[in-house]
Amino acid sequence: MEVKQFRYASDNLGYLVHAQGKGIAIDAGAPGEMADYCRNQDIEILYVTNTHTHGDHTSGNQALLEKTGAEFLDCRQFSQGQIIALSSGQELEVLLTPGHTMDSVCFKGDGFVITGDTLFNATVGNCFSGDLDAFYNSLKQLMALPGDTRVFAGHDYVEAALQEAVSIEPGNPDIDGYRAAIGKEPVVSTIADELKVNPYIRFNAPTIVQLLKERNLPSHTGAERFTALMEVF
Ligand SMILES: [Fe+2]
Repeated sequence: MEVKQFRYASDNLGYLVHAQGKGIAIDAGAPGEMADYCRNQDIEILYVTNTHTHGDHTSGNQALLEKTGAEFLDCRQFSQGQIIALSSGQELEVLLTPGHTMDSVCFKGDGFVITGDTLFNATVGNCFSGDLDAFYNSLKQLMALPGDTRVFAGHDYVEAALQEAVSIEPGNPDIDGYRAAIGKEPVVSTIADELKVNPYIRFNAPTIVQLLKERNLPSHTGAERFTALMEVF
């Protein structure tokens, strides 16, 4: 199963996941480019779907559906653990990950996860839903994936995110290596990388716990630390 990343509107990232000539478009904001790629590679797009319903992720749906005749899968109707099969043995699993929005989902494939605006490379999405507990549980679900799982996010915010990571954890020795390793195209990290540098999911790291204690912020539970990080930093 392959993941092809498409950049559009400068920092948005959309994806075509394909195997054995069958594919699914996730956040098809570059519908022309995606359709051309599939034509050249002889890939049939079976499904068009989204990581959530924000307009910058759904803007290409209609155009790609018209170009391909693919089936639209409304992300608001997915259930936890739902399987999307591309061909025999080639499937994606839907993870419900409310937080950025209540309709946010991630797609887990063999060795990768497409995270939309839930988890970015080196940062996390804004909690527009207002439900930080839900967001915390969603991120814990992603943190529990194998460390070598590749993380394909919905935007390239890497540079700004790393500056913020340095400002929160100036002594973190892993940030420079992360910056050097992360590619411009495709933009991808791993869950293990994120656990080393992404301050918002490092709520169990001793340096972060210490930082919150020094500032007299709530730090007793993981959920409290995550909430403090999201509200203060
Ligand atoms: Fe969004």
